[in-house]
Amino acid sequence: HYTRFRLAPLLLVSGSPVYDSNNGTVPLVLWHGMGDNCCNPLSMGAIKKMIEEEIPGIYVLSLMIGKNVIQDTENGFFMDVNEQVSEVCGQLAQDPKLKGGYNAMGFSQGAQFLRAVAQRCPSPPMKTLISVGGQHQGVYGLPRCPGESSDICDMIRKALNSGAYSDLIQKHLVQAQYWHDPLNDDLYKKHSLFLADINQERGVNETYKKNLQLLEKFVMVKFLQDTVVDPVDSEWFGFLKTGQAKETETLQESVLYKEDRLGLAAMDKAGKLFFLATEGDHLQFTKKWFDANLLPYLR
Ligand SMILES: *[C@@H]1O[C@H](CO)[C@@H](O)[C@H](O)[C@H]1NC(C)=O
Repeated sequence: HYTRFRLAPLLLVSGSPVYDSNNGTVPLVLWHGMGDNCCNPLSMGAIKKMIEEEIPGIYVLSLMIGKNVIQDTENGFFMDVNEQVSEVCGQLAQDPKLKGGYNAMGFSQGAQFLRAVAQRCPSPPMKTLISVGGQHQGVYGLPRCPGESSDICDMIRKALNSGAYSDLIQKHLVQAQYWHDPLNDDLYKKHSLFLADINQERGVNETYKKNLQLLEKFVMVKFLQDTVVDPVDSEWFGFLKTGQAKETETLQESVLYKEDRLGLAAMDKAGKLFFLATEGDHLQFTKKWFDANLLPYLR
């Protein structure tokens, strides 16, 4: 007993980072979805507030991409995703409150963008990544847009149809950067500036694989009645089988997993992957569900 009592505090001190400046809580970084922004009092603002009430003392950073909420919303449609990720990496590295590490929660496209942050920018360390309706294998369709952005969506649809993999559209249309056309796999692999890169389609970047595995947990939430994300399997890292647009495959059935190109199979084996499902359309959840299912990962 004597040794045990002596060892335990020593292990705690040396083994886990100290969050002195954060009242013993782990800071949380949020990245909003398409058509939304950092601070909308009805969406991200409300979620930030709710978490701050549930976890007293927690530092919640809701990312703003650009100088104000209007730019932030527009950038969700039109700003090169690789530049957005790099800007966020800069913001996180400069934030003294995040030094000891942080958890991250991404909504819709914000989820795959935060995964890119984990893969590219290991410092400060991301501990748990929660993907809420994220599209980790991209989308092949844009059936409906969230919120009131339907005019923009009509325009985006037209642009995607006219050539999602043209360099001009890739550079300037966010949704093209995670457009995944299973009928044109070669084009996707070659020209997708963002998704094909972070999903190791052009080769295996060992840094990505190593960094992603630094996560303690990777939680993916799927919305069972999602009418925005097509196919919805993408929210659990599944997708359409290559060469056709009907049959889907799970992450575990994919080449990405079988060859373990990104470390996901290893993470699965280590019990680091969590697949959650909830009733409801895209990003529609109740506070009760959030409290019961997601809050525990943030405490
Ligand atoms: C692999 O990813 C790292 C981190 O983003 C990057 O610095 C490096 O250039 C990438 N390597 C290749 C071959 O793309």
